[in-house]
Amino acid sequence: MKAVIPAAGFGTRFLPATKAQPKEMLPVFDKPTIQYVIEEAVASGIDDILIVTCRNKRSIEDHFDKSFELEQTLQSAGKDDRLKQVRDITDLADICYVRQKEQRGLGDAIYCAKKHVGNEPFAVLLGDSITKGPTPCTKQLVDVYNKYGASAISLESVPREKVERYGIIKGSEVESDIYKIDKLVEKPLAHQAPSNLAIMGRYVLSPDIFDKIDETEPGVGGEIQLTDALQKLDAIYGVTFEGKTYDIGNRLEWLKTSIEFAMDDAESKKQLIEYMKEIIEGEE
Ligand code: UTP
Repeated sequence: MKAVIPAAGFGTRFLPATKAQPKEMLPVFDKPTIQYVIEEAVASGIDDILIVTCRNKRSIEDHFDKSFELEQTLQSAGKDDRLKQVRDITDLADICYVRQKEQRGLGDAIYCAKKHVGNEPFAVLLGDSITKGPTPCTKQLVDVYNKYGASAISLESVPREKVERYGIIKGSEVESDIYKIDKLVEKPLAHQAPSNLAIMGRYVLSPDIFDKIDETEPGVGGEIQLTDALQKLDAIYGVTFEGKTYDIGNRLEWLKTSIEFAMDDAESKKQLIEYMKEIIEGEE
């Protein structure tokens, strides 16, 4: 299976940080966001990856490319651990790039992958979100795709007052944590939302999605919405996966995620707790 990572958005919610720098390259603790995303694809058994980029996103390509000078410098300095880290990034996966010429929405970004993907099911992982859980989220979706022979998307319960930020589904639970979806609505008003189950940024899609995107008119915000195209598929399942999704495109979420990931690092955890205690005491 191939994976497609849309990473061509403007990232307006995170300006000015994203004016000249892709939000997908913002570090979460010690790694750029998109590296976590690619690691998830690889951990799910996928190493053929297409990243959808645009102008201003060259640093993504540079990050996954070989850096001769840096490697030589680290080698001469005997910094073998660092050298290994740098080389591992290059060896992670086979990565190709395609450019989305105009930012016409997520549906349009995925349509840019049509030629590369061909007539096979494929995974989509949004380049600005990270997932964490006992089994990689994309792997859980691949398993559901294989079991039901239909597209599968990741879901999470969100508080009612936040449904307006997400695509929301209406569906019936066919087994624990798996829903057959009847309807999807992009960013509904809280009182009109059919549930509080939100689409969270991981998908395994059948290739007929490309025809459905092609038939889709611009929707909310004048963009070609993936949600509108998903709605047209013959069958689609939602999975409230075991784990959590972190949206890096929102500056406060990004900060919280960085702290949470730093807390997973034993060495940083102690110092971070001491530092946070100091800050909180200073506020009291
Ligand atoms: P978002 O809607 O979060 O991205 O899309 P955005 O438009 O960059 O964000 P804001 O709202 O302006 O802050 C989710 C993912 O889809 C990609 C983004 O790069 C992001 O990783 N995307 C979005 C595209 O590749 N192309 C688009 O036209 C829109």
